[in-house]
Amino acid sequence: MFKRFLAIMLCLVLVLGLGACGEKKEEPAPAAEPAPAEETEELKTVVILGTGGTIAGSGTAGKTQGYTAGSIDIQSLIDGVPGLDTLANLQGEQVLNTASDNVTAKDWIVLAKRINELAKDDNIAGFVITHGTDTLEETAYFLDLTVKTDKPVICVGAMRPATATSADGPMNLYQSVALARTPEARGKGVMIVFSDGIYAAREVTKVTTYKTDAFNGRDFGALGYMVDDKAYFYNTSAKKHTVDTPFDVSELEDLPKVGVAYFHIDAEPEMLQYYLDNYEGVVVAGAGNGSSSTLWSNLVKDTVDGGSEVVVVRAGRMDNGIVTDNANYMQSIAANNLNPQKARILLALALTQTKDREQIREYFAEY
Ligand code: SIN
Repeated sequence: MFKRFLAIMLCLVLVLGLGACGEKKEEPAPAAEPAPAEETEELKTVVILGTGGTIAGSGTAGKTQGYTAGSIDIQSLIDGVPGLDTLANLQGEQVLNTASDNVTAKDWIVLAKRINELAKDDNIAGFVITHGTDTLEETAYFLDLTVKTDKPVICVGAMRPATATSADGPMNLYQSVALARTPEARGKGVMIVFSDGIYAAREVTKVTTYKTDAFNGRDFGALGYMVDDKAYFYNTSAKKHTVDTPFDVSELEDLPKVGVAYFHIDAEPEMLQYYLDNYEGVVVAGAGNGSSSTLWSNLVKDTVDGGSEVVVVRAGRMDNGIVTDNANYMQSIAANNLNPQKARILLALALTQTKDREQIREYFAEY
Protein backbone atom coordinates (compact mmCIF):
# COMPACT_ATOMS: atom_id res chain seq x y z
CA MET A 1 0.00 0.00 0.00
CA PHE A 2 2.75 2.39 1.08
CA LYS A 3 4.76 1.45 -2.05
CA ARG A 4 1.71 2.37 -4.25
CA PHE A 5 1.42 5.72 -2.46
CA LEU A 6 5.12 6.39 -3.08
CA ALA A 7 4.75 5.52 -6.77
CA ILE A 8 1.78 7.95 -7.15
CA MET A 9 3.71 10.75 -5.41
CA LEU A 10 6.74 10.16 -7.66
CA CYS A 11 4.54 10.31 -10.72
CA LEU A 12 3.03 13.61 -9.52
CA VAL A 13 6.48 15.12 -9.07
CA LEU A 14 7.38 14.00 -12.59
CA VAL A 15 4.13 15.40 -14.02
CA LEU A 16 4.87 18.80 -12.46
CA GLY A 17 8.58 18.73 -13.33
CA LEU A 18 8.52 17.31 -16.84
CA GLY A 19 4.98 17.90 -18.03
CA ALA A 20 4.29 14.17 -18.45
CA CYS A 21 4.28 11.06 -16.33
CA GLY A 22 6.38 8.52 -18.11
CA GLU A 23 9.65 8.33 -20.00
CA LYS A 24 11.56 11.67 -20.24
CA LYS A 25 11.87 12.74 -23.89
CA GLU A 26 15.28 14.15 -25.00
CA GLU A 27 14.72 17.80 -25.94
CA PRO A 28 16.90 18.94 -28.87
CA ALA A 29 19.61 21.36 -27.74
CA PRO A 30 18.54 24.94 -28.52
CA ALA A 31 20.32 26.37 -31.56
CA ALA A 32 22.91 29.07 -30.76
CA GLU A 33 21.14 32.35 -31.38
CA PRO A 34 22.70 35.14 -33.40
CA ALA A 35 22.96 38.50 -31.67
CA PRO A 36 19.59 40.35 -31.85
CA ALA A 37 20.98 43.19 -34.02
CA GLU A 38 21.88 40.72 -36.76
CA GLU A 39 18.29 39.43 -36.87
CA THR A 40 16.85 42.80 -37.70
CA GLU A 41 19.57 44.84 -39.40
CA GLU A 42 20.28 44.35 -43.07
CA LEU A 43 23.64 42.61 -43.37
CA LYS A 44 26.45 44.37 -45.19
CA THR A 45 28.67 42.53 -47.66
CA VAL A 46 32.22 41.60 -46.78
CA VAL A 47 34.43 40.26 -49.57
CA ILE A 48 36.90 37.58 -48.51
CA LEU A 49 39.84 37.22 -50.90
CA GLY A 50 41.62 33.89 -50.43
CA THR A 51 45.34 33.56 -51.10
CA GLY A 52 46.22 30.39 -49.16
CA GLY A 53 48.59 29.98 -46.22
CA THR A 54 48.30 27.85 -43.12
CA ILE A 55 44.79 29.16 -42.49
CA ALA A 56 43.90 27.16 -45.63
CA GLY A 57 46.34 24.38 -44.73
CA SER A 58 45.53 20.71 -44.43
CA GLY A 59 47.48 17.82 -42.92
CA THR A 60 47.30 14.95 -40.44
CA ALA A 61 44.20 15.34 -38.26
CA GLY A 62 45.08 17.00 -34.97
CA LYS A 63 48.71 17.82 -35.79
CA THR A 64 50.13 21.32 -36.18
CA GLN A 65 53.19 20.39 -38.27
CA GLY A 66 53.81 18.67 -41.59
CA TYR A 67 50.80 20.09 -43.42
CA THR A 68 50.37 21.66 -46.84
CA ALA A 69 49.62 25.38 -46.79
CA GLY A 70 47.06 26.67 -49.27
CA SER A 71 45.12 23.49 -49.91
CA ILE A 72 41.58 24.38 -48.78
CA ASP A 73 39.50 26.65 -50.99
CA ILE A 74 38.04 29.91 -49.73
CA GLN A 75 34.40 28.75 -49.80
CA SER A 76 35.22 25.73 -47.61
CA LEU A 77 37.07 28.02 -45.20
CA ILE A 78 34.06 30.31 -44.99
CA ASP A 79 31.65 27.40 -44.56
CA GLY A 80 33.81 25.99 -41.74
CA VAL A 81 33.44 28.97 -39.39
CA PRO A 82 30.35 28.77 -37.16
CA GLY A 83 28.28 31.95 -37.20
CA LEU A 84 30.33 33.71 -39.87
CA ASP A 85 27.29 34.16 -42.09
CA THR A 86 25.44 35.96 -39.29
CA LEU A 87 28.01 38.78 -39.42
CA ALA A 88 27.79 39.77 -43.08
CA ASN A 89 26.83 38.66 -46.56
CA LEU A 90 29.97 36.82 -47.50
CA GLN A 91 31.45 36.93 -50.96
CA GLY A 92 34.46 34.62 -51.29
CA GLU A 93 36.96 34.97 -54.13
CA GLN A 94 39.98 32.75 -54.69
CA VAL A 95 42.84 34.95 -55.85
CA LEU A 96 45.60 32.40 -55.17
CA ASN A 97 45.99 29.29 -53.05
CA THR A 98 49.62 28.95 -52.04
CA ALA A 99 52.10 29.32 -49.20
CA SER A 100 52.73 33.03 -48.69
CA ASP A 101 56.44 32.57 -49.42
CA ASN A 102 55.35 32.15 -53.07
CA VAL A 103 53.39 35.42 -53.22
CA THR A 104 54.85 37.89 -55.73
CA ALA A 105 54.64 41.62 -56.37
CA LYS A 106 52.47 40.77 -59.39
CA ASP A 107 50.01 39.05 -57.01
CA TRP A 108 49.99 42.14 -54.77
CA ILE A 109 49.09 44.32 -57.72
CA VAL A 110 46.24 41.96 -58.71
CA LEU A 111 44.93 42.10 -55.13
CA ALA A 112 45.14 45.89 -54.88
CA LYS A 113 43.45 46.36 -58.25
CA ARG A 114 40.64 43.98 -57.28
CA ILE A 115 40.04 45.76 -53.96
CA ASN A 116 40.09 49.16 -55.65
CA GLU A 117 37.50 47.96 -58.17
CA LEU A 118 35.20 46.30 -55.61
CA ALA A 119 35.47 49.23 -53.18
CA LYS A 120 33.35 51.33 -55.56
CA ASP A 121 30.36 49.10 -54.74
CA ASP A 122 28.31 50.78 -51.99
CA ASN A 123 26.99 47.42 -50.80
CA ILE A 124 30.47 46.28 -49.81
CA ALA A 125 31.44 47.30 -46.29
CA GLY A 126 34.96 45.92 -46.20
CA PHE A 127 37.49 43.28 -47.19
CA VAL A 128 39.30 40.36 -45.62
CA ILE A 129 42.41 38.80 -47.16
CA THR A 130 43.22 35.27 -45.96
CA HIS A 131 46.97 34.78 -46.30
CA GLY A 132 49.95 32.86 -44.97
CA THR A 133 51.60 34.41 -41.94
CA ASP A 134 55.19 34.26 -43.24
CA THR A 135 54.81 37.32 -45.45
CA LEU A 136 51.47 38.61 -44.17
CA GLU A 137 53.02 41.86 -42.91
CA GLU A 138 54.51 42.56 -46.35
CA THR A 139 51.25 42.09 -48.25
CA ALA A 140 49.42 44.15 -45.62
CA TYR A 141 51.89 47.06 -45.93
CA PHE A 142 51.83 46.95 -49.74
CA LEU A 143 48.01 47.18 -49.65
CA ASP A 144 48.21 49.91 -46.99
CA LEU A 145 50.18 52.02 -49.48
CA THR A 146 48.14 51.20 -52.58
CA VAL A 147 44.45 50.58 -51.91
CA LYS A 148 42.35 53.64 -52.63
CA THR A 149 39.51 53.23 -50.18
CA ASP A 150 38.86 54.04 -46.56
CA LYS A 151 36.80 50.85 -46.19
CA PRO A 152 38.41 48.38 -43.79
CA VAL A 153 40.88 45.96 -45.38
CA ILE A 154 41.80 43.24 -42.91
CA CYS A 155 44.60 40.72 -43.48
CA VAL A 156 44.44 37.49 -41.53
CA GLY A 157 46.08 34.09 -41.26
CA ALA A 158 46.61 31.29 -38.80
CA MET A 159 49.52 29.48 -37.22
CA ARG A 160 47.77 26.11 -37.15
CA PRO A 161 46.33 24.38 -40.22
CA ALA A 162 42.59 24.00 -40.48
CA THR A 163 42.94 20.27 -39.69
CA ALA A 164 44.81 20.81 -36.37
CA THR A 165 43.30 20.45 -32.94
CA SER A 166 42.38 23.96 -31.73
CA ALA A 167 43.05 25.51 -35.12
CA ASP A 168 43.30 29.28 -34.67
CA GLY A 169 42.09 30.16 -38.18
CA PRO A 170 38.33 30.06 -37.57
CA MET A 171 38.35 32.62 -34.74
CA ASN A 172 40.86 34.84 -36.55
CA LEU A 173 38.64 34.77 -39.63
CA TYR A 174 35.49 35.38 -37.59
CA GLN A 175 37.03 38.42 -35.92
CA SER A 176 38.38 39.72 -39.24
CA VAL A 177 34.97 39.62 -40.91
CA ALA A 178 33.48 41.29 -37.83
CA LEU A 179 36.10 44.05 -38.03
CA ALA A 180 35.67 44.47 -41.78
CA ARG A 181 32.01 45.41 -41.30
CA THR A 182 32.68 47.69 -38.29
CA PRO A 183 32.12 51.39 -39.17
CA GLU A 184 34.76 52.49 -36.63
CA ALA A 185 37.39 50.53 -38.57
CA ARG A 186 37.05 52.82 -41.61
CA GLY A 187 39.92 55.15 -42.39
CA LYS A 188 42.40 53.32 -40.19
CA GLY A 189 44.46 51.83 -43.01
CA VAL A 190 45.04 48.16 -43.65
CA MET A 191 45.06 46.08 -40.47
CA ILE A 192 46.02 42.58 -39.40
CA VAL A 193 43.76 40.73 -36.97
CA PHE A 194 45.51 37.98 -35.09
CA SER A 195 44.92 36.19 -31.80
CA ASP A 196 42.43 38.82 -30.54
CA GLY A 197 44.69 41.77 -31.47
CA ILE A 198 44.23 44.46 -34.15
CA TYR A 199 47.51 45.75 -35.64
CA ALA A 200 48.45 48.49 -38.11
CA ALA A 201 49.93 47.08 -41.33
CA ARG A 202 52.87 49.48 -41.17
CA GLU A 203 54.01 48.49 -37.68
CA VAL A 204 53.01 44.85 -37.35
CA THR A 205 55.54 42.06 -37.61
CA LYS A 206 55.60 38.31 -37.15
CA VAL A 207 57.40 37.47 -33.92
CA THR A 208 57.39 33.69 -33.54
CA THR A 209 57.87 30.67 -35.76
CA TYR A 210 55.01 28.62 -34.30
CA LYS A 211 53.03 30.07 -31.40
CA THR A 212 49.50 31.28 -32.10
CA ASP A 213 50.04 34.80 -30.67
CA ALA A 214 52.32 35.35 -33.62
CA PHE A 215 52.20 39.10 -34.33
CA ASN A 216 52.84 42.33 -32.50
CA GLY A 217 53.05 46.02 -33.29
CA ARG A 218 56.67 46.41 -32.05
CA ASP A 219 57.24 49.65 -30.08
CA PHE A 220 53.70 50.76 -30.88
CA GLY A 221 51.67 47.80 -29.60
CA ALA A 222 48.22 47.00 -30.93
CA LEU A 223 45.58 49.35 -32.30
CA GLY A 224 43.04 47.46 -30.26
CA TYR A 225 41.40 44.20 -29.33
CA MET A 226 38.77 41.97 -30.87
CA VAL A 227 36.43 40.27 -28.43
CA ASP A 228 34.26 37.92 -30.45
CA ASP A 229 32.64 40.24 -33.01
CA LYS A 230 33.31 43.53 -31.19
CA ALA A 231 36.26 45.81 -31.87
CA TYR A 232 37.83 47.96 -29.14
CA PHE A 233 40.21 50.62 -30.51
CA TYR A 234 42.81 52.51 -28.45
CA ASN A 235 45.37 53.76 -31.01
CA THR A 236 45.71 54.83 -34.63
CA SER A 237 48.73 54.84 -36.94
CA ALA A 238 50.21 58.33 -37.34
CA LYS A 239 51.53 57.65 -40.85
CA LYS A 240 49.72 58.35 -44.12
CA HIS A 241 48.16 55.40 -45.90
CA THR A 242 45.62 54.22 -48.50
CA VAL A 243 43.86 57.26 -50.01
CA ASP A 244 46.60 59.62 -48.76
CA THR A 245 49.52 58.12 -50.69
CA PRO A 246 50.57 58.89 -54.28
CA PHE A 247 51.10 55.22 -55.14
CA ASP A 248 48.86 54.12 -57.99
CA VAL A 249 48.71 50.49 -59.15
CA SER A 250 46.22 51.03 -61.96
CA GLU A 251 48.89 51.02 -64.68
CA LEU A 252 51.33 48.66 -62.94
CA GLU A 253 52.00 45.00 -63.73
CA ASP A 254 55.11 44.53 -61.57
CA LEU A 255 57.42 46.49 -59.25
CA PRO A 256 60.97 47.71 -59.84
CA LYS A 257 63.60 45.28 -58.58
CA VAL A 258 64.65 46.09 -55.02
CA GLY A 259 66.78 43.71 -52.92
CA VAL A 260 67.66 43.46 -49.24
CA ALA A 261 71.36 43.04 -48.41
CA TYR A 262 71.76 41.69 -44.88
CA PHE A 263 74.82 43.02 -43.10
CA HIS A 264 76.70 40.88 -40.57
CA ILE A 265 80.25 40.55 -39.36
CA ASP A 266 82.50 39.53 -42.25
CA ALA A 267 79.70 40.24 -44.77
CA GLU A 268 81.34 40.02 -48.19
CA PRO A 269 81.07 43.18 -50.35
CA GLU A 270 80.43 41.05 -53.48
CA MET A 271 76.84 40.37 -52.48
CA LEU A 272 76.13 44.09 -51.98
CA GLN A 273 77.97 44.86 -55.21
CA TYR A 274 75.70 42.45 -57.07
CA TYR A 275 72.57 44.25 -55.84
CA LEU A 276 74.05 47.68 -56.55
CA ASP A 277 74.87 46.65 -60.11
CA ASN A 278 71.68 44.77 -60.97
CA TYR A 279 68.80 46.27 -58.97
CA GLU A 280 67.08 49.65 -59.06
CA GLY A 281 67.03 49.85 -55.28
CA VAL A 282 68.82 48.20 -52.36
CA VAL A 283 67.86 48.12 -48.69
CA VAL A 284 70.81 47.50 -46.42
CA ALA A 285 69.60 45.65 -43.33
CA GLY A 286 72.24 47.18 -41.16
CA ALA A 287 73.35 46.82 -37.58
CA GLY A 288 72.55 49.50 -34.99
CA ASN A 289 71.41 52.72 -36.68
CA GLY A 290 71.46 51.06 -40.10
CA SER A 291 75.24 50.82 -39.93
CA SER A 292 77.54 48.52 -41.84
CA SER A 293 81.28 48.02 -42.20
CA THR A 294 83.53 50.67 -43.75
CA LEU A 295 83.87 48.27 -46.68
CA TRP A 296 80.10 48.27 -47.28
CA SER A 297 79.48 51.96 -46.62
CA ASN A 298 82.37 52.99 -48.89
CA LEU A 299 80.96 50.74 -51.60
CA VAL A 300 77.60 52.55 -51.40
CA LYS A 301 79.32 55.94 -51.30
CA ASP A 302 81.56 55.19 -54.29
CA THR A 303 78.68 53.71 -56.32
CA VAL A 304 76.37 56.70 -55.76
CA ASP A 305 79.12 59.33 -56.09
CA GLY A 306 80.21 57.52 -59.25
CA GLY A 307 76.87 58.41 -60.87
CA SER A 308 74.87 55.19 -60.43
CA GLU A 309 71.09 55.71 -60.28
CA VAL A 310 70.61 52.90 -57.76
CA VAL A 311 68.81 54.11 -54.64
CA VAL A 312 70.07 52.75 -51.32
CA VAL A 313 68.07 52.73 -48.08
CA ARG A 314 69.52 51.97 -44.65
CA ALA A 315 67.25 49.99 -42.32
CA GLY A 316 67.95 48.31 -38.99
CA ARG A 317 68.08 44.58 -38.33
CA MET A 318 66.30 45.13 -35.00
CA ASP A 319 62.51 45.15 -34.67
CA ASN A 320 62.40 48.40 -32.73
CA GLY A 321 63.73 51.93 -32.90
CA ILE A 322 64.35 54.38 -35.72
CA VAL A 323 67.16 54.71 -38.26
CA THR A 324 67.90 58.39 -38.81
CA ASP A 325 69.77 60.21 -41.55
CA ASN A 326 73.47 60.36 -40.78
CA ALA A 327 75.91 62.88 -42.20
CA ASN A 328 78.37 60.04 -42.88
CA TYR A 329 75.84 58.12 -44.98
CA MET A 330 73.97 60.77 -46.99
CA GLN A 331 74.37 58.72 -50.19
CA SER A 332 71.73 56.47 -48.67
CA ILE A 333 68.28 57.17 -47.24
CA ALA A 334 67.27 56.32 -43.66
CA ALA A 335 64.39 53.83 -43.47
CA ASN A 336 62.83 55.59 -40.46
CA ASN A 337 61.34 52.78 -38.34
CA LEU A 338 60.43 50.45 -41.21
CA ASN A 339 61.95 47.00 -40.97
CA PRO A 340 64.01 45.93 -44.01
CA GLN A 341 61.22 43.92 -45.68
CA LYS A 342 58.81 46.88 -45.42
CA ALA A 343 61.45 49.44 -46.42
CA ARG A 344 61.89 47.33 -49.57
CA ILE A 345 58.19 47.76 -50.41
CA LEU A 346 58.16 51.53 -49.88
CA LEU A 347 61.35 51.89 -51.92
CA ALA A 348 59.91 49.81 -54.79
CA LEU A 349 56.72 51.90 -54.83
CA ALA A 350 58.72 55.12 -54.55
CA LEU A 351 60.72 54.05 -57.61
CA THR A 352 57.47 53.79 -59.59
CA GLN A 353 57.15 57.57 -59.05
CA THR A 354 60.65 59.00 -59.07
CA LYS A 355 64.38 58.30 -58.94
CA ASP A 356 65.04 61.53 -57.08
CA ARG A 357 66.73 60.61 -53.79
CA GLU A 358 65.51 63.69 -51.92
CA GLN A 359 61.91 62.99 -52.95
CA ILE A 360 62.30 59.38 -51.82
CA ARG A 361 63.80 60.59 -48.53
CA GLU A 362 60.58 62.55 -48.00
CA TYR A 363 58.48 59.46 -48.73
CA PHE A 364 60.36 57.61 -45.99
CA ALA A 365 59.48 60.37 -43.54
CA GLU A 366 55.80 60.35 -44.57
CA TYR A 367 54.62 56.77 -45.17
C1 SIN B 1 52.59 30.61 -45.13
O1 SIN B 1 53.03 31.71 -44.82
O2 SIN B 1 51.94 30.41 -46.16
C2 SIN B 1 52.88 29.42 -44.29
C3 SIN B 1 52.95 29.74 -42.86
C4 SIN B 1 51.70 30.27 -42.27
O3 SIN B 1 50.73 30.62 -42.91
O4 SIN B 1 51.68 30.36 -41.01
